[in-house]
Amino acid sequence: MPVESPSIADRLLAHYDRHARRLPWRAPPGTNATDPYRVWLSEVMLQQTTVAAVIPYFHRFTARWPTVADLAAADDAELMTAWAGLGYYARARNLLACARAVMREWNGAFPEREVEIRTLPGVGTYTAAAIAAIAFGQRAVVVDANVERVVARLFAIPTPLPAARPEIRAFAETITPNARAGDFAQAMMDMGATICTSRNPACGICPLRESCAAFRTADPATFPLKAAKKPKPQRLGHVWWMTRGDSVWLERRPAKGLLGGMRGLPGSNWSATPSTLPPTSAQWVTLPEPVGHVFTHFALSLTVHRAEVNGNSLNVGEGEWWPLDRIGEAGLPTLFAKVADVVLKEDHI
Ligand code: ADE
Repeated sequence: MPVESPSIADRLLAHYDRHARRLPWRAPPGTNATDPYRVWLSEVMLQQTTVAAVIPYFHRFTARWPTVADLAAADDAELMTAWAGLGYYARARNLLACARAVMREWNGAFPEREVEIRTLPGVGTYTAAAIAAIAFGQRAVVVDANVERVVARLFAIPTPLPAARPEIRAFAETITPNARAGDFAQAMMDMGATICTSRNPACGICPLRESCAAFRTADPATFPLKAAKKPKPQRLGHVWWMTRGDSVWLERRPAKGLLGGMRGLPGSNWSATPSTLPPTSAQWVTLPEPVGHVFTHFALSLTVHRAEVNGNSLNVGEGEWWPLDRIGEAGLPTLFAKVADVVLKEDHI
């Protein structure tokens, strides 16, 4: 291990004291005025989601549900609607489960030890470490994608991702200080988000460049090395936009599965050969362009069909007729919001 390791934390923290991003869930550097509820909520929202996207949701959630007790008592459907657009909807379901577990099993106070935090619903290795460090000042090794990049560069780790993860964690462990663990974790995240960025790292203003092995190579941005990506499988599907006058039929998706518990449009399964069976026979019009959306494990191309179905009997599940002029309030996940946009922008309407 490099001999200068201990000073990496000192230099990073000194830089953080001057340049920390001011974020709504953050205490100013060097203070401990953090509310575990806000730290937990922000960390769950920030899983796979950018800071810029999270900020307005964080403000809305903390205004509507200021404490973990308020969130535990939230109406499930209202919470799912408030989450709409953030994606990865299992997080919203786990959010409720976690708030209720904190009330029921921990007397309303978040547990403080990393191993205990890890037992909460929706809280994985990263999130437990982040909460332990940021909310409770405990030494914990916090490694997200930004930190991974910074560490892979500091030590010019020659193994490609994802195989490099254990090595990256071991190196991260060597530079994590005992004191100010929360500030250190957030300083590493800021470093990855603002200076040690994936494409054009700003090595010229980096406080760690003297300790950075990648900086001494021809192209620091090549780290972390990546194994060749497999292309995402393509799936197809059909959605049925059924109107009755000024309303459209929206269903509540089953709790389990992709976009579970969210509102959506009725449709087929998503596969290589999806069913084309409509929920009712009508004068279906197929839109010329499918709507595309990329999920974590596959890319989806949805063919959109629309029809006026006044008076038909429908073969559909749980749902409701939703007024078209309030479609923006339905809490549709992005995929279905795109479909609504495309249909409503058609000339004929
Ligand atoms: N990404 C995840 N957690 C974060 C935090 N606390 N600050 C900034 N970016 C983050």
